[in-house]
Amino acid sequence: MCGIFGYLGYQEAQPLVIDGLRSLAYRGYDSAGIAVLSSEGTLGVRKAAGKIDNLIGAATSSPLSGKLGIGHTRWATHGEPNEINSHPHFDGSGSIVVVHNGILENYAELKERLIANGHVFSSVTDTEVIPHLIQELIAEGLSFPEAVRIAAGQLRGAHAIACLHADHPQEMITLRIGNAGGVSIGHGQGEMFIASDLPALVPHTSSVTPLEPGEMAIINPEGCDVMTLDGTPVDSSRLTITVNAVSAAKGGYKHFMLKEIMEQPETAMSALRGRLSFNPGEVTLDLPFTEQEMKEFTRVVFIGMGTSSHACQIGARFIEILARIPATSENAAEFRYRDPVLDSHSLVVAVAQSGETADTLEAMHQAATAGARTLAITNVEGSQAYRQAEASILMHAGPEIGVASSKTFINSMIAMQLLALRLGATRNTIPVAASTEYVQALSHLPGLLGEALSANEGMYHKLAAKYARSRRFLFIGRGLLEPIAREGAMKLKEISYIHAEGMSAAELKHGPIALVDPETPVIAFAPRNAMYEKMLGNITEVRARSGQVIGITTAGNAGFTGLVDDTLYIPATPPLLEPLLATIPAQLLAYHMADLLGNDVDQPRNLAKSVTVE
Ligand code: F6R
Repeated sequence: MCGIFGYLGYQEAQPLVIDGLRSLAYRGYDSAGIAVLSSEGTLGVRKAAGKIDNLIGAATSSPLSGKLGIGHTRWATHGEPNEINSHPHFDGSGSIVVVHNGILENYAELKERLIANGHVFSSVTDTEVIPHLIQELIAEGLSFPEAVRIAAGQLRGAHAIACLHADHPQEMITLRIGNAGGVSIGHGQGEMFIASDLPALVPHTSSVTPLEPGEMAIINPEGCDVMTLDGTPVDSSRLTITVNAVSAAKGGYKHFMLKEIMEQPETAMSALRGRLSFNPGEVTLDLPFTEQEMKEFTRVVFIGMGTSSHACQIGARFIEILARIPATSENAAEFRYRDPVLDSHSLVVAVAQSGETADTLEAMHQAATAGARTLAITNVEGSQAYRQAEASILMHAGPEIGVASSKTFINSMIAMQLLALRLGATRNTIPVAASTEYVQALSHLPGLLGEALSANEGMYHKLAAKYARSRRFLFIGRGLLEPIAREGAMKLKEISYIHAEGMSAAELKHGPIALVDPETPVIAFAPRNAMYEKMLGNITEVRARSGQVIGITTAGNAGFTGLVDDTLYIPATPPLLEPLLATIPAQLLAYHMADLLGNDVDQPRNLAKSVTVE
């Protein structure tokens, strides 16, 4: 949610900041802007509403020169995404410039006070209050860094902020309050960078200092001083990052999302690499719990948002099936406000591909405060969730650029199955022979995902042409496929903008069946498993009401085609892997519909990859 990038060093800042923003654009793409300090000490600014290309147009036709610059790509909260409301924002004198990620909860109160003191505002954003506040504190006699620090103490809410002052050409200040997305400082040779996300730093350096909530950094070209917001120096540790920049290129695919769907066999392999052993089948995971502690867990709660919350629903089922621990999944935003009953025998597993989702981070904090043990399943090493949890199981999916999650969904389900197998082995709920079978099955997953991707040749284009102009879709499934029905509906609506609902097939007749008509296709997940006959019953109910059914079933299930309007196949697999394989047709169907409708698949409207506001 909003991306921040900054540069201070010996190179021209503008191209570096713009490149940084380009790689952060998935965090928000309503508007973008940059500010650069010239060698004459003037702060120049370029802004543009809409996507980063508009900013590139504005900055290329009238470039800014200077070795210090900050930029911002915005997901609008306060004020429409026009040029005036775009960041960076200035103080009244034009000497202080700020970019900001977060929501300033007390901005109205601060703004009123500043207006009463003679400050004039040009935008309707909450952010513009910040440079004015710093200006006022400098006017009272504070130095620039001190003014920033004291101003930070007056801001309510969660924030990531970067700012420059025209009289301080060798200084860039950044700070973090709460969980509004990260800020990491990249160390170069005689040059320094800041970015909201680690992949934006990868082309420049692998030496990084991530800021913790409540910290501020004063950065010069040779390094930085980190302190807490009460002014206590922090001995900040460096992290060496190893994100593969090459894998973040589109590689011949029309969209990142399609590339990311197609690379799922390899990314699944990465999630499994080094974690399986055979004869007997075992899972190796570095967990921070003793064997005794794992035996004494009395409940497991998975928390996450959006697609990650669908993965959590699968995770809870895996834990109950394999480790026989009562397990639930909860929407992190609701969990954090309902004072859940937890103790040291509760394991709370936060799932967040970005590792920066504000709702999930706050829920993790809540869980830790209540004494629960915590784990994170995340794709970003060094992210806030990674640092906040006792330990993390990394998804190893590589950078996911498409805003709609695809490969991270599959890899989070793999991570959860590994966790369930590990807990089950410790708690003796899985006989050795069964464990060996599960591990064998998992080792075949990459190949099966590959088969699922190449099955149904030509069908997705055909189905997109037939159905993409439908009014709405219903997705139905049972058991482990119910969360996949929800995820399928989510994928379709976020990239095609067609309304879709996912639910248990059993739920249909309790209300939603009223929506069934010839213009409401129903996607039914019906592999040949224990729920197959039940699914057939539900499919028949839909067809009896003139509903059209696209059925997803197991390859070789010949009799099925006569029972539905269109059929997609997934390879035969043990039931625990069915949700992973059934995700593939749901992803491809959504992708091809959105593409046929001409939508911006990688950056769908109104969304952002990393949701760092509540
Ligand atoms: C949808 C999607 C979102 C995220 C959600 C949580 O395709 O990507 O629903 O799943 O915003 O994000 P993370 O996993 O980063 O916590």
